[in-house]
Amino acid sequence: MAVFDIIAKDYDEWYKGGIGKFADQAETCLAFNLFSPEKHHRVLDVGCGTGNFSLKLAGYGCEVTGIDLSEEMLAQARHKAEGIKPEILFKRMDVYNLEFPDNHFDGVFSMAAFEFITQPGKAYSEMFRVLKPGGRLLIGTINRDSKWGELYLSKGFQENSVFKYASFMTMEQLKDLDRENLKGFGECLFIPPDAGSESISWEEEKRLSLTERGGFICAIWEKPL
Ligand SMILES: C[S@@+](CC[C@H](N)C(=O)[O-])C[C@H]1O[C@@H](n2cnc3c(N)ncnc32)[C@H](O)[C@@H]1O
Repeated sequence: MAVFDIIAKDYDEWYKGGIGKFADQAETCLAFNLFSPEKHHRVLDVGCGTGNFSLKLAGYGCEVTGIDLSEEMLAQARHKAEGIKPEILFKRMDVYNLEFPDNHFDGVFSMAAFEFITQPGKAYSEMFRVLKPGGRLLIGTINRDSKWGELYLSKGFQENSVFKYASFMTMEQLKDLDRENLKGFGECLFIPPDAGSESISWEEEKRLSLTERGGFICAIWEKPL
């Protein structure tokens, strides 16, 4: 049984209100500013979970394949994507063994999955392999070096959550995956996890960005032609 199977049915709840909804908006904004999804681009969503980002990518007209280890997360994703055009293909697959030829996708995308991937270098190489020359690969993950990282690493938080299986990277560790082909990076979610509802706003996010570290980081790489 995959780690995420038991929480699949409740996974999307967090994104529906409060700080979870804000985090989703901030992370989406950052990721898509860097990734620039294009209509008809063939995109692989690695660790797609319940398909949150697969659906957003399809909304830009991308032809999306989502892969994940958890059948239960994929079942939620398939249910949410019913009737969506272009159709999204969801497959059970391990990032370490992507069943696609070399140079197959225009873009490779992965949000909030590298926390649960124990060999990030190996996963990155496999994702880079299936990327076409000129294509872009984006990874977004929780910043170890932030208040969000501190929370997720705390014993109390880990005890009763899937985060006991997680590990976290700093921005420098994320960039280290491939310094040669790195094209850009950014951070968001400067609002801390314990913010009260009155302090969850874009104004506050902007204000804190001057002094705080972002709780979520993204980097993008391009495969040379
Ligand atoms: C926190 S969820 C993120 C889901 C989605 N990307 C999102 O942002 O809502 C992490 C997902 O990564 C998947 N995952 C973990 N290790 C994986 C692996 N080796 N190969 C493919 N998927 C994996 C998990 O099953 C889980 O669904």
